[in-house]
Amino acid sequence: MNRNLIVPLWIFLLIVLTGCQPESPEASPNEMAKPAPSTSQQESPAKAVADPHSFSNANQIAVRHLDLELDVDFQARAIDGVVRLSLERLAPDVDRLVLDTRQLDIREVAGDDGQPLAWELGPKDPELGQALEIPLRPETDEVTIRYRTAPGATGLQWLEPVQTAGKAHPFLFTQAQAIHARSFVPLQDTPQVRFTYDALIRTPTELRAVMSAANDPEAELDGAFEFSMPQAIPSYLLAFAVGNLDFQAMSDRTGVYAEPTLLRPAAEEFADTEAMMQATEARYGPYLWGRYDLLILPPSFPYGGMENPRLSFITPTVIAGDRSLVSLIAHELAHSWSGNLVTNANWNHLWLNEGFTTYLEARIMELVYGPERRRMEDVLGYQALLEDLERLPPADQRLVPDYGERNPDDAFSWVPYEKGRLFLVFLEDRFGRERFDDFLRGYFEHFKFRSLTTDTFVQYLNQHLLASDPGRVTLEEVETWLYAPGLPDNAVLPESDAFARVDDWRSRWVDGEIDASQLPAETWTVHEWLYFLNNLPDALANDRMAELDAAYGLTRTRNNEIAHSWLRQAIAHRYEPALERLRDYLASIGRLKLIRPLYSDLMQSDWGAELARTVYADARAGYHPQAQATLDAIVQ
Ligand code: BES
Ligand code: ZN
Repeated sequence: MNRNLIVPLWIFLLIVLTGCQPESPEASPNEMAKPAPSTSQQESPAKAVADPHSFSNANQIAVRHLDLELDVDFQARAIDGVVRLSLERLAPDVDRLVLDTRQLDIREVAGDDGQPLAWELGPKDPELGQALEIPLRPETDEVTIRYRTAPGATGLQWLEPVQTAGKAHPFLFTQAQAIHARSFVPLQDTPQVRFTYDALIRTPTELRAVMSAANDPEAELDGAFEFSMPQAIPSYLLAFAVGNLDFQAMSDRTGVYAEPTLLRPAAEEFADTEAMMQATEARYGPYLWGRYDLLILPPSFPYGGMENPRLSFITPTVIAGDRSLVSLIAHELAHSWSGNLVTNANWNHLWLNEGFTTYLEARIMELVYGPERRRMEDVLGYQALLEDLERLPPADQRLVPDYGERNPDDAFSWVPYEKGRLFLVFLEDRFGRERFDDFLRGYFEHFKFRSLTTDTFVQYLNQHLLASDPGRVTLEEVETWLYAPGLPDNAVLPESDAFARVDDWRSRWVDGEIDASQLPAETWTVHEWLYFLNNLPDALANDRMAELDAAYGLTRTRNNEIAHSWLRQAIAHRYEPALERLRDYLASIGRLKLIRPLYSDLMQSDWGAELARTVYADARAGYHPQAQATLDAIVQ
């Protein structure tokens, strides 16, 4: 057996066989005060799981509600904030509250009675920020903090008007996952704690503020916006944005917020959102968050999407005009079940959010767009995983890594996404779709509004699926999926007939049997194009690149994913006619998934490092602080 497996397997068997649990399924501190939901599982005393990325003493005292007041100052690139935290004591003798902060200027801390409380900031940790320690009086159950954010706050991006679609107004948005909420609100920045919130955001009068909460699209533009979020959320889902935003409904409960010129194209592109919601609800249980709206951000948004509850934040780079890239919406929507409802207890267990979501995303795509589209997306995702597995050290190939105190942003890869999906596909394959769907539905129901670790998941899996059918899947197989590097042999790998045909055509062209113009490319979907391009041979003469480009205008393509694949090939084959587009692309898009591989390819080539540095020197100021941190490590 693989040596990496021996220790975890040991602990694991001990847990399963003896029923001695390192943390119980009711372990999230958020839940500790509530009566445990009735289940067939044996209960054990609740105990919070350690979170290596938070200073907070969340196992002793938990924030249950926030009242936020934020004054947005675009000139100073700062927010003046007042937050009142409502506390619940979990340990009777707790005498202090420890919060997470990063680059916050703390001005004043007061207790329920308005009387000042003493406070102290701990030493600065480059990854985690600073602990804010507040000694509590025995009767204190509310703490109010006045503070100001730093211009370089890692959870905020302040945009100049030129960085927006309309070019006339500034824009501000937050991105809290994984550990950046602490840079704009002092709080317990761990996904083990959930809170409801009310907020008031003051903005310049021509702009609109929106939040991961109930939004009122009719709210007057008077410089003050009120919000209330009745469902309890973890801190990484706290989000807001301020800009020149309008709203357009797509269905009774879905709609789009965007800058005016993007509103119609976005509503058209994402019109299937309601169908996606209905498909997901039919399989996995009701959508529990009220409305589901999309916020279209400027192109510097560092992610494809962010599942902020009730209001997913979405990159404009997926507005392709043909709905070809809407699996992103399926993905962010799916987080309304996996992630937002059932949440990873800390970032070592990210696969519980992203793997389940990537699995649900595929199921939604199959239901709404058919099995062939789903299979093609599966194969593309699988190939992205293979590329990562080749590049990552074994420890980072595990579904459950141990990041230690490494910033979770630095360990980002396709492993929790695609390997996580393949693990669930493996379970679906062994147990059958119907049983597995019932299992998942029960899982969401059981753990809703709670956080869990992989151990708790495995225990639940064992009790509700494995044990009912002994031998169908062994715990050892599960263990291999979770803790071994690479991909287990029993993985069920995706295949696509459409892609097999693309392989044939590609070979005929590579072998010189046909010209590029004879490829049946007018019939190809975006996915077929991506597959064609991603799998071009390493050795391809420059004139063959030119031939493709002449036949299909690839350097000019407006589809950002096709452009990405083409530009990677242009770098691999040093196809110089595409380099001007490459510069424009890198300067105008901040989405890491699209630009990080281009920068690394350039840096690793024997000719492109200088180009990468020059382009980056110009583009860096326009990137998000989190993208800057990631790209600094690659380019500088
Ligand atoms: N929650 C993630 C984004 C994220 C992950 C932010 C980790 C910070 C840390 C979001 O749901 C996501 O996965 N976005 C992907 C899209 C997806 C279809 C793979 C992205 O941004 O590309
Ligand atoms: Zn995700």
